[in-house]
Amino acid sequence: MMTAQKTAVVVPSLLAGDLSRLGEQLDAVKAAGCAWVSVDVMDGHFVPNLSFGPDFVKLAKARGFFVDTHLMVANPLDVAAWFAEAGSDIVTCHIEAVADPRAALKKIRALGVKAGLAVKPKTPVDGLIEVLDVCDLALVMSVEPGFGGQKFMADMLPKVSVLRREIDARGLDCWIQLDGGVGAANIASAAAAGADSLVAGSAVFGAPDAGKAFRELEAKARAAVKS
Ligand code: DX5
Repeated sequence: MMTAQKTAVVVPSLLAGDLSRLGEQLDAVKAAGCAWVSVDVMDGHFVPNLSFGPDFVKLAKARGFFVDTHLMVANPLDVAAWFAEAGSDIVTCHIEAVADPRAALKKIRALGVKAGLAVKPKTPVDGLIEVLDVCDLALVMSVEPGFGGQKFMADMLPKVSVLRREIDARGLDCWIQLDGGVGAANIASAAAAGADSLVAGSAVFGAPDAGKAFRELEAKARAAVKS
């Protein structure tokens, strides 16, 4: 059974939020129709930065969002349960941080949540393609993970196209998420390449009006989805 690209969903990343009024910013994107947000978890080892714990998942869940937790940590299988218990709907680990990606995805699914697998810019998608049958979300980084506000790497889009063809040909039910530097200038080409989950941090929460920015980005992405 052939599947096709579902649609294109913009997923604001809390990392770009203003911590002094994050609740307010979440309410603004919710009012603009946003249903899915992303929580970046950094440990200072896998990436040279520190960020959020499970309480940020609870903050978003308390507002009824679908939440994906992006674990940029060296030991994802030791901490995944904390984020599952906090209410995360998807927990994503990096292929560079696990010895056996297939076992890692199964272990995350065994926590009762959906499982995602991410690749950094220098990592090919081959290893991800091998485990797509047990993967609910395939994440292609379009920046080196660790910081928001970086420049989008357009040379990551061929990875998205390869994944799109593979998922559609095998009739798999797996989101393709693109993360890093996504904004008004590149979101259409990202959606046209086949990404159906588009993480946007500074382009949404860095904008004067987060709700308006969200709506405009999602309209651009949806218009670009090949029917
Ligand atoms: C970076 C994170 C991204 C980042 C996105 O390591 O994984 O989610 O917060 O922020 P922007 O959209 O500003 O690049």
